[in-house]
Amino acid sequence: MSADLVHPGHLNILKKAADLGEVTVGLLTDQAIASYKRVPFMTFEQRKQVIENIKGVSQVVPQTTLDYRHNLTQLKPDHVVHGDDWKEGVQQKTRQQVIDCLAQWGGSLVEVPYTDGISSTQLQHAMKELGTTPQIRLKSLRRLLNAKPLLRFLDIHNALSGLIIENTKVEVNGRVEEFDGMWGSSLTDSTAKGKPDIEAVDVSSRMSTLNEVLEVTTKPIIYDGDTGGKTEHFVFTVKTLERLGVSAVIIEDKTGLKKNSLFGTDVEQTQDSIENFSLKIKAGKQAQATHDFMIIARIESLICGQGIDHAMQRAKAFIEAGADGIMIHSREKSPDEILEFCRQYRQLENKKYLIAVPSSYNSIYESELAEAGVNIVIYANQLLRSAYPAMLNTAQSILQHGRSAEVDEHMMPIKQILELIPGTK
Ligand code: SPV
Ligand code: MG
Repeated sequence: MSADLVHPGHLNILKKAADLGEVTVGLLTDQAIASYKRVPFMTFEQRKQVIENIKGVSQVVPQTTLDYRHNLTQLKPDHVVHGDDWKEGVQQKTRQQVIDCLAQWGGSLVEVPYTDGISSTQLQHAMKELGTTPQIRLKSLRRLLNAKPLLRFLDIHNALSGLIIENTKVEVNGRVEEFDGMWGSSLTDSTAKGKPDIEAVDVSSRMSTLNEVLEVTTKPIIYDGDTGGKTEHFVFTVKTLERLGVSAVIIEDKTGLKKNSLFGTDVEQTQDSIENFSLKIKAGKQAQATHDFMIIARIESLICGQGIDHAMQRAKAFIEAGADGIMIHSREKSPDEILEFCRQYRQLENKKYLIAVPSSYNSIYESELAEAGVNIVIYANQLLRSAYPAMLNTAQSILQHGRSAEVDEHMMPIKQILELIPGTK
């Protein structure tokens, strides 16, 4: 069982099991659940506490993978009792493995029909409708990092982009794939406001974008804090972000007038000294009120053409200063320098979470980044970069033809936009 939202369907299964004998529940760990669906609302310990206290349950054992065979060969039960909903979908293979495994000692599979009118999926929808709290959202990034080998984040620049990240799901090889959270990009936020990405959009204005997104989503947010500004100002940003329920801020080790990293050495970009930047990290860590908020140090050595040794020296220093993670950036077309950094970083004894932003080296697959030790991949600007050309094309077509009919097929039907946001009708 996952037993995140316990409902009468679960109780029915447990009752059938108790009629057959002593009941042991194999409770899926967060990692096992996250390997095929959303991380549960309750932690493993909370779910265990609930199930242990249900009448008829003798013991609860952790089940660390979706493969039941390890637990089954240890326990050799007479029967496995399971809901019959696994006959279809991603768990079909697991079901067959259970049947074959039980056959070794003559055990049987007992399937309990699905209880009509209630399901975890329905309850999850209802929970989503209720929204979240800042505290739950803030903590959710650490929970996801513990449960999944690699997280994927995508850029936000308004509430609608947040909704796309919140709701988009695609089934790939029987698994439901979705984004884990949102990247509060300075590039796309300032571009959407028609301003350059040079810290000209002030923190209050950035927070107003965040607020829009927070209103309509529940997933975690990592905020692009640019250079963090003056240390004396950064401590206030940290407090504001925490209060809103943002999970982490990433600050880059640059100083002076910030220019977007993707310009590389085409523009003047100055790295802060290790000493100064370490002091900023320390001040931020001291300012935070919870244990869960994270300050991630972004290293610009590769952007500034300083090489991997330079970047590694900084990674060590910033972790010592208290950074909860390192973001390494590159604007090379090839992923080679990032992969070499990852190789050296993996050997660091006190290493923390590692974040990569494959904007220019976009041929790399997430699986390769995960293999290299990356914990979070950020798609930093892809939503805005796809929206702008589409809008420009529409504007040009209307001008060209003196009407909108020619571009109609590239647009969302009127009926669809009316139904896009629930409650519009
Ligand atoms: C952003 O999205 O604003 C970033 C990433 O900081 S980059 O634009 O690549 O510098
Ligand atoms: Mg930025």
